[in-house]
Amino acid sequence: MRNQSLLRKALANHFFSAVVSSALLLLAFTSPTLAADAERGEALSQTCLGCHGAPGLRNPGPVYEIPMVGGQHASYIVSALKDYKSKARAHKTMQAQASNLSDTDMQDIAAFFAEMEGNSRPGLTDAQSAARGEANSAVCASCHGKTGDGDNAAYPKLAGQYESYLEQALKEYRSGERTNAIMAGFADNLSIQEIRDLAAWYGKQEGGLTAPESKIFKFTD
Ligand code: HEC
Ligand code: HEC
Repeated sequence: MRNQSLLRKALANHFFSAVVSSALLLLAFTSPTLAADAERGEALSQTCLGCHGAPGLRNPGPVYEIPMVGGQHASYIVSALKDYKSKARAHKTMQAQASNLSDTDMQDIAAFFAEMEGNSRPGLTDAQSAARGEANSAVCASCHGKTGDGDNAAYPKLAGQYESYLEQALKEYRSGERTNAIMAGFADNLSIQEIRDLAAWYGKQEGGLTAPESKIFKFTD
């Protein structure tokens, strides 16, 4: 009798701890992730600013301007960094830059860049090319917004981004060098001229993007 009640007690205890541990487990999966720490992100971003805080600095080959990430949507920055880390995106320097970043590092860095005020200064573009780009951009608007300054954080901002980088990105989607199921579908049928026109259109828009001049790198000095 006594043994039986001990057994029952033991079983009850076991059941109780099982319930508690599964509840804890559930909590761990459902609790919201901690807010990203932009200040920590700033400290981690000093190397990044050597390139992304140097307005107009170019990738050596193929030559195109290093994209502005200041003011970009945080979730897109994280997604891009994950793609470099996993080597889904091919750029060697960025793969190396992302290789040692944890998910938390990426989120903090993204918070730092995303909260920057945009100040992209649209460059001079071929007005006729941009007008053709505008006409062809209707199909892009549902995701990127009419001028490429869309609010939907799942899609990168394009407005005011360097034309040369937009052109490079579209060419890479078209050639399959950069793989993304959605964008491959949109870039596949574009001619080089159409790519240039779209890049000219988005590149000349006032946007929320910026390449902040960093303390490390100043063209003016
Ligand atoms: C040596 C210069 C250099 C450094 C340093 C550098 N980047 Fe980059 N970054 C680039 C270039 C060039 C590209 C475009 C690569 C491509 O075509 O995929 C890029 C692309 C990116 C992109 C994707 C932008 C987009 O619109 O898709 C993000 C995000 C990014 N970098 C963040 C960072 C972060 C964060 C760091 C620091 C940990 C960093 N970069 C350091 C040169 C650099
Ligand atoms: C259904 C939604 C959708 C539509 C429509 C769409 N895009 Fe995209 N676009 C995306 C997504 C998602 C990404 C990010 C893909 C990735 O991570 O490589 C992207 C990325 C891009 C990039 C790369 C930006 C960067 O910073 O590297 C460019 C340029 C671009 N799109 C241009 C266009 C143009 C031009 C059109 C119309 C011809 C278009 N997109 C239509 C969803 C869309």
